[in-house]
Amino acid sequence: MSMHMKITTVACLASMAVAAQVVGQENAATPRPLITVDAKAPQRAVSPEMYGIFFEEISHAGDGGLYAELVQNRDMEASTIPQGWKVDDSNNVLTPLGWRTRRWFKTDLPGWSFLAEGGGEGSMQLDVNTPLNDRNPHSLRMTVTKRGTRCGVVNSGYWGMAIQAGEWYDATFYARTEGQGQGPRPRGVGLVFSLESAHGGKLCARVTIPEVGGPWRRYTLSLQANASDPNCRLVITPIEPVTMWLDVVSLFPRKTFKDRPNGMRRDVAQMLADLKPGFLRFPGGCVVEGCTLYNRFRWKDSIGDISQRKGDFNLWGYYSTYGLGFHEYLQLAEDLGAEAMVVCNVGMSCQARRPAEVADADTLRSYVQEALDALEYAMGLATSEWGAKRVANGRTQPFRIKYVEIGNENWGPDYLRHYKVFYDAIKAKYPQIITIADAPPRGQQSPEPIEIIDDHFYVSPARFFGMANQYDDADRKGPKIYVGEYAVNRGVGTGNLLGGLSEAVFMLAMERNADVVRMCSYAPLFENVSQRNWPVNLIQLDSSRCVGRSSYQIQRLFAAHRPDVVLQTQVQAPQVELTGVPALFGGGGQPEGQTSQWLKVRQVYALAGLDSKRGEVVIKAINPTPSAVTGTVTLKGLTKLGTKAKVYTLAHADATAENTLDAPNVIVPKESEMAVAGVQFPVNLPANSVTILRLAATTSG
Ligand code: AHR
Repeated sequence: MSMHMKITTVACLASMAVAAQVVGQENAATPRPLITVDAKAPQRAVSPEMYGIFFEEISHAGDGGLYAELVQNRDMEASTIPQGWKVDDSNNVLTPLGWRTRRWFKTDLPGWSFLAEGGGEGSMQLDVNTPLNDRNPHSLRMTVTKRGTRCGVVNSGYWGMAIQAGEWYDATFYARTEGQGQGPRPRGVGLVFSLESAHGGKLCARVTIPEVGGPWRRYTLSLQANASDPNCRLVITPIEPVTMWLDVVSLFPRKTFKDRPNGMRRDVAQMLADLKPGFLRFPGGCVVEGCTLYNRFRWKDSIGDISQRKGDFNLWGYYSTYGLGFHEYLQLAEDLGAEAMVVCNVGMSCQARRPAEVADADTLRSYVQEALDALEYAMGLATSEWGAKRVANGRTQPFRIKYVEIGNENWGPDYLRHYKVFYDAIKAKYPQIITIADAPPRGQQSPEPIEIIDDHFYVSPARFFGMANQYDDADRKGPKIYVGEYAVNRGVGTGNLLGGLSEAVFMLAMERNADVVRMCSYAPLFENVSQRNWPVNLIQLDSSRCVGRSSYQIQRLFAAHRPDVVLQTQVQAPQVELTGVPALFGGGGQPEGQTSQWLKVRQVYALAGLDSKRGEVVIKAINPTPSAVTGTVTLKGLTKLGTKAKVYTLAHADATAENTLDAPNVIVPKESEMAVAGVQFPVNLPANSVTILRLAATTSG
């Protein structure tokens, strides 16, 4: 779908108030957009933590995404629903308070299947007798009555396991058999572990582990692949008939991000590192709240040995193992060089999933304690109760937590009451921690002490283009702002360039007001393309690939070219109408797939700042129209200008273009250089583009 541009109106475009300018039809006489930077005017500091990351277990962001575990449903608990919940005849899950959500799996052992080849016979069942431990009540009972050529169980991973020739894979599992000491093999049965292509055509690795049997025991083995396949399965077959119980069957690539055990997928985590995030927010998002209070992210169940963790059916409709748990989040933040931002449950379940549960005054104390214990786990002395557990889990030195958000998307009188109790308790014990409050409903003021407010926006491109001056009038005396979740998620397919350009316009507004907007994070971060819970996400992945959408490229550019102070920037450019824009208002008004009449944008949006460390002025300019335009940049109050500028351009002729797993490089930044003749120079802004210029300069003042 192509877009057309009509310059129709008289327009005055101000980053910081400029005079109106009349613009007629587009022709040779159309004045150039003017970008005027005044380094002598008051400057606003930009926090090093301006651009961060929001992580939540949604769309298999963790299990089947960032977390490198290859086995799906390793603990056989995936079909377990939280206490008190029910499953109806249509495979919906119902909470005790009546919230209904789809249950995506139809078997009681998702991820697992039974294999019988060449006359093999047997079965597989979910079993609750003789559990491994009380936190893992279910196990898989594999019965092989006739071996045939081979017979056993298969795990298909998270829509395939990516195996690479030459690499090592480490497996651990628990097994038990009954009737130990009897029969021809009193000490157990050999188990064959094979990594092979989805239908068995190609064998990538095979190892036999002898003598598996007796009471529950942990076994380990390593496999080196001699062939590659992005869509493997793990096949476990006994070498003779047996009934065997299996639990916590885990398989990790030996190479994880920073080589952490129980670690992250290298390729995926590297994409986060490339964003150079100022902070990492975790664990969410609505998973912090849960559909019920029991269903909240329970950090204490997410630490320690993986066989002792107790996962949960999360409110996005699938089971989380909690393998990527509180300790791993803290470690990841450190490995990314990002400040940790922990979001804690505030004694309230998700209010969007009505009716919500609210802890009463007595139980509220236990939720406050839960948050304090989390902080003690991360930062407490080795002699403290929870600090000792951190040390036992392999981390002697405390982790660092800079921010704690009290609740996620909670509001109303209950929230304000709970917020105050949490705020007081956290500040009393950890005065250095900066707290964040959920945004009060628009127009309402919170009476409580608030340091930072978390603002969320999921909107259409039209809305973000219309928010180019957001925060210009924000109360400079009130709390600071953290835009914790924002994205265009309607009318842009699974995330096209037009969406990204409008986000970039909103990001300029945040950066320009960086004295008030201290931090922001795009959301959600990931989707496994095999199970999308949210329409548009920053990074798409499958078992072997990951791709950053154009929004990812924009996030990366903005973080890499974050100035430490913004300079007063005036932009004069006409307002234009884009016609033939596909379904910009889908989701809220106009349905997806229809074409809206028009979209009003400015021909150019821009903002300049200084990178003092590198002694460079950084100019970001956005042209969201389908026509290239040449603007004129004027720099005032800057001296010692370089004669060359580095130019980073993200552009595509078609604003509806998207990066996909199959075509990941459709929209990627290009680097070039341009000559700069003095304090005034022309700059080419291609159609549908973000352009960043960097040139050596110092301020004269
Ligand atoms: O990012 C997806 C969801 O959007 C988050 O879980 C929630 O905080 C918001 O409503």
